Amino acid sequence: SLGNSNNIFWQECPVGKLERQKLINQKGCVVWITGLSGSGKSTLAFALNRQLYSRGKLSYVLDGDNLRHGLNKDLGFSAEDRTENIRRVVLIAICSVGSFGKSLRKLLASSTLCFANFGVPTSREVAKLFADAGMICIASLISPYRKDRDACRAMLPDSNFIEASFLTKAVFMNTPLSLCESRDAKGLYKLARAGKIKGFTGIDDPYEPPLQCEIELQQIDGVCRTPTAMSEQVVSYLEEKG
Ligand code: PPS
Repeated sequence: SLGNSNNIFWQECPVGKLERQKLINQKGCVVWITGLSGSGKSTLAFALNRQLYSRGKLSYVLDGDNLRHGLNKDLGFSAEDRTENIRRVVLIAICSVGSFGKSLRKLLASSTLCFANFGVPTSREVAKLFADAGMICIASLISPYRKDRDACRAMLPDSNFIEASFLTKAVFMNTPLSLCESRDAKGLYKLARAGKIKGFTGIDDPYEPPLQCEIELQQIDGVCRTPTAMSEQVVSYLEEKG
């Protein structure tokens, strides 16, 4: 069943994933960057995007904050909305890496809110993203709940999913949150502490760090590595994995 939609049939695309990969001479994959607000996810994502571009590789950044300006602007920060946020990004990620087959059908069928029910504005935004999308998909979202990230991993073939845990550790407090909060580039931590934003990740909503991940980038106050150095580490990993 596809939610409320009846009598619809999956149409297989005649140009397959392997053909697309051959055409652009690269394999699709998803680099999922998770971490607290202010941990540097977007900075890493854009640096990685730039570095891949300079090596002639197509990539596209799906950034949580940016998506919430369009595709996900109907979503807030309740646990349900965060889960839905991630589900939609996985959906785009699957399409952009070229796995239009089984995984996408599984995702459509498994969710309560199906793609066909997104409504016109959302579908339009999805279309826009598809039109723009490259083949290496860099998703930078807080994605605070382990169960949602595990669900992403289950939807994407193993070799196509890289979870880069972008944890930020503060030397003085010996806790990741303190450095993010001290940066507070958007002033959101201050508002959350003052009770003006409810359900803020790390303050009154949990962030569950990955128990295991392929790449862990730690930032320690005073010895911060440059975004270029960090993205080089991710690129090396991608190269190593072919
Ligand atoms: S999530 O949890 O994955 O659905 O979040 P995401 O889509 O990545 O959006 C995170 C950005 O939203 C802003 N913001 C909040 N973050 C966390 N909790 C609450 N309540 C909240 N309200 C607004 C904030 O700018 C996040 O951006 P980043 O880049 O992570 O700092």
